Amino acid sequence: MKKKVLLMGASGSGKTSMRSLIFSNNPASLTARLGATIDVEQNHVRFLGDLILNLWDCGGQDAFMDSYLSTQQSTIFSHVGVLIYVFEVESRNMSKDLAYYTECLDALNKYSPEASVFLLVHKMDLVRGSKGAILEKKTKELRQASGEMSMTVFGTSIYDETLYKAWSRIVHTLIPNASVLSKHLTTLADACGATEVVLFERTTFLVIATSSPPPISTPPAPIEPPAATALSPSTSSSSSTPSTIGFTQSSNQKEDGDDHDSDLTGDIHKLDTTRYERTSELIKAFKHSCARAREEFYALEMELDDFTAVLDELTKNTYVLIVVHNPTIETAAVRMNIRLARKKFE
Ligand code: GTP
Repeated sequence: MKKKVLLMGASGSGKTSMRSLIFSNNPASLTARLGATIDVEQNHVRFLGDLILNLWDCGGQDAFMDSYLSTQQSTIFSHVGVLIYVFEVESRNMSKDLAYYTECLDALNKYSPEASVFLLVHKMDLVRGSKGAILEKKTKELRQASGEMSMTVFGTSIYDETLYKAWSRIVHTLIPNASVLSKHLTTLADACGATEVVLFERTTFLVIATSSPPPISTPPAPIEPPAATALSPSTSSSSSTPSTIGFTQSSNQKEDGDDHDSDLTGDIHKLDTTRYERTSELIKAFKHSCARAREEFYALEMELDDFTAVLDELTKNTYVLIVVHNPTIETAAVRMNIRLARKKFE
């Protein structure tokens, strides 16, 4: 199953930069060297099983935009699953950006009326002052320009986890069996006595699905070790890595009034609301360091005072992260459960 994703927006708004970060694993610092995209560049990424993301990065110079909206209209706008339109937060010509955007919406309505629309207010790192207020103002402006069309707006920057958050949400809407996946991940979480299980796509490290939110319970009752712990000796030879991912942060900052995050608040471990995106970002940076040291990244284990985390391959195209807050549960047992669960996800 191929899903066509159109990536559009003015020239220099940052489309190729985000593609290069997410799909080619390049660091943000190298994006300044990217040249303007000529016409359309296509990428294919295989997600779970037979889901292939077909990404069309459409160069944003006026001449290309005019051609997409005239001679190439049916080629560009047919069979689109998702349109991602990028706006520079400090655009020097917002009225022109909006004029092109509305023309693209009309074409999308004509050729792919079922497509979802996501708008990225990008380069948020450049905003001085209140990012929240600016994003709200921009969102209002974009909603007005979109008329009846329903769309979702994200504030993004290549310099922090917001980009992963937006792209993970977008990709999540494309996965046909996301709720079944989430159910299986919840079963795996229960089997491991885990607080949470997260499934990532292998190359992009975008979040595909997560287990259900941990239960809201008051006293942290002792969790029974899963059956697997009894079977496996403590053979883990994990290295301790500094806790930068923040699974146990106590602040429950709610940044953007987002439902997906709010359903994870109030749990016993006070999970950081940006943990998924930050994990994606950190793992990709770590993989990059491994590549620089000519080492291959296979898996990761962290054993800290208040939690353990195991990140391992689940299927050919996915990695799973299991976070456990019970010191009696050995990482070897978690690994064994991952091994046993593989068949279910293949
Ligand atoms: P066309 O290919 O001409 O359509 O442009 P594009 O939208 O692909 O822009 P591109 O990705 O080439 O980015 C243009 C410039 O924006 C580069 O110098 C990037 O480093 C910079 N850039 C991209 N994302 C961000 C961001 O989040 N923040 C900041 N400050 N700069 C960014």
